[in-house]
Amino acid sequence: MSRTIAIANQKGGVGKTTTAINLSASLAVLGKRVLLVDMDPQANATSGLGIEKERLSVSVYDVILELAHPEQAVVSTSIPRLDVLPSSRDLVGAEVELIGADRRASRLRIALQPFSRSHDYIIIDCPPSLNLLTLNALTAADSVLIPLQCEYFAMEGLSELVRTLQLVKRRLNPGLQREGIVLTMFDRRNRLSHQVGAETRRLFGNLVLKTQIPRNVRLSEATSFGKPAFHYCVRSAGAQAYVSLAHELLSRNANKEAPGEKIAAGGLTTAAVARGSTRHPDRYEQKPVE
Ligand SMILES: Nc1ncnc2c1ncn2[C@@H]1O[C@H](COP(=O)(O)OP(=O)(O)OP(=O)(O)O)[C@@H](O)[C@H]1O
Ligand SMILES: [Mg+2]
Repeated sequence: MSRTIAIANQKGGVGKTTTAINLSASLAVLGKRVLLVDMDPQANATSGLGIEKERLSVSVYDVILELAHPEQAVVSTSIPRLDVLPSSRDLVGAEVELIGADRRASRLRIALQPFSRSHDYIIIDCPPSLNLLTLNALTAADSVLIPLQCEYFAMEGLSELVRTLQLVKRRLNPGLQREGIVLTMFDRRNRLSHQVGAETRRLFGNLVLKTQIPRNVRLSEATSFGKPAFHYCVRSAGAQAYVSLAHELLSRNANKEAPGEKIAAGGLTTAAVARGSTRHPDRYEQKPVE
């Protein structure tokens, strides 16, 4: 069975999408079958993996409005074992269109059921809001991973997020767990980064993942080229940090997986990167828009 992780923080620009792309790609390179679900109408995770959203005929919007089967919307990426359920601008209207609809916060959970056997990890990129799209992600998820930017006001809005998580647990998804908090854009030359890091660890203890994502320009460059960082610059600190984050999550979840599925810890090997650059058979190829 797959593990579904929602990457959420209603604060904008904290590294949700960068984390969704690079964590998904790193898990795939480490041998896991991964589905990245883009629940943000900005569709940055979709374009950040080199998918031309204008050429897609269906997206997660059609899926949650039950206008298309989920398998119809999924597309393969250039990374073996990594598929994407893409977003589109239409998603902006979904909240209004779902007013009064049945099971409106459970649409995504139901849509993702077919992938629970075909994929090991389902990673959901949330929009910067605690709206119905985020509620759908949290209802579909086994756990939530919260990126926290090492900057001024890092914890602003965190209590609101925690309240939303409690509400979702009570009303919609009693099994929802906390995957943890990941510190992003950590600048080791900046005192503030160290202060935010120390304060977060003091407050949240081992809920804070050991891996810190450094501020690294290669991460933003890679996204603008439609690639995960390890395909753009494998040696970059950003690429390596996301591979470490994937290792850390895998080892934290290891006892929940079947024996023999554990992945040995270690750096990103060149063999793994070489495997990652061979094209995946197009299991999921949407009919392009005419
Ligand atoms: N570790 C990093 N180092 C340098 N730049 C980063 C890092 N992480 C993210 N960025 C850049 O910061 C900006 C915001 O990141 P990202 O889009 O991942 O955040 P987000 O939380 O998904 O934003 P939104 O709330 O708008 O969805 C982007 O330009 C991204 O390339
Ligand atoms: Mg984003």
